[in-house]
Amino acid sequence: MSRIAYVNGQYVPHRQASVHVEDRGYQFADGVYEVIAVRDGQLVDMPPHFDRLERSLGELEIEAPMSRQALTFILKEVIRRNRVRNGIVYLQITRGVAPRDHQFPTDPNAAVVVTARNAIPKVAQRAAGIGVISTEDIRWKRCDIKSVSLLPNVLAKQKAVEAGAYEAWQIDENGNVTEGSATNAWIVTKNGEIVTRNTDEAILSGVTRLAVLELAKRDGIPLVERPFTLEEAKEAKEAFLTSTTSNVMPVIEIDGTPVGNGHPGTVTRALSELYEQLAIGG
Ligand code: PDD
Repeated sequence: MSRIAYVNGQYVPHRQASVHVEDRGYQFADGVYEVIAVRDGQLVDMPPHFDRLERSLGELEIEAPMSRQALTFILKEVIRRNRVRNGIVYLQITRGVAPRDHQFPTDPNAAVVVTARNAIPKVAQRAAGIGVISTEDIRWKRCDIKSVSLLPNVLAKQKAVEAGAYEAWQIDENGNVTEGSATNAWIVTKNGEIVTRNTDEAILSGVTRLAVLELAKRDGIPLVERPFTLEEAKEAKEAFLTSTTSNVMPVIEIDGTPVGNGHPGTVTRALSELYEQLAIGG
């Protein structure tokens, strides 16, 4: 079956799906994106994705090209045309095509691209746990915006892959973990308290992060949102990461040091289980 992409008003074969050479996303990374999970053919957790998308667009002063309703229609149509049951849908909105000049064009025309694909659930990795490495956070000061400008994240992830790790945890100038290249970072302290960095301009407010915070609160698991250091993480009882594509993923090794007993911890496994049930419920 051939894949279909949505590009600026048209559904086109994936292989021919392209944007203009002067799209500002291509030349300046002047755009934003969302990655949304699809479970049993249904979009997962849409409202917070839309909230974040609109916030990102607002921060960059890109006018939303269409309503939530219209965008939802397109997302569902791309899912349907690609017969995605379990996977992801990718949505990108840029400031559109204009002669190359740094300042905003006077007549911007936001460009919209949507793709979707099936993905194999990471069941085995979630059961066994994964390793992360640490790397300096060299990103800009507005990581709260889900911008397509991801070069430092790309470099960090590549470093992780070359080291045989799943993810790279980025470390700020104070020695604190900000987040992964495409995931949020969490630890469980020896007192059983869940810790994840508070949302400021240094990290992305993950949709999965929000859902997991809610689950932990609902279950009365003590939690605090604050920065934590790399050293604290290495000495933690448990660690895990969250994202739309990883869900709740146990971290069993940081820079080669086992976390806790080197196996997925009980709090992590409980949250992972709760999150799976929530996501299946849509
Ligand atoms: N990444 N932090 C960063 C830097 C991210 O890029 C992401 C998402 C997250 C987790 O956010 P969420 O729970 O909403 O997926 C945190 C997506 C999946 C990506 O770029 O592929």
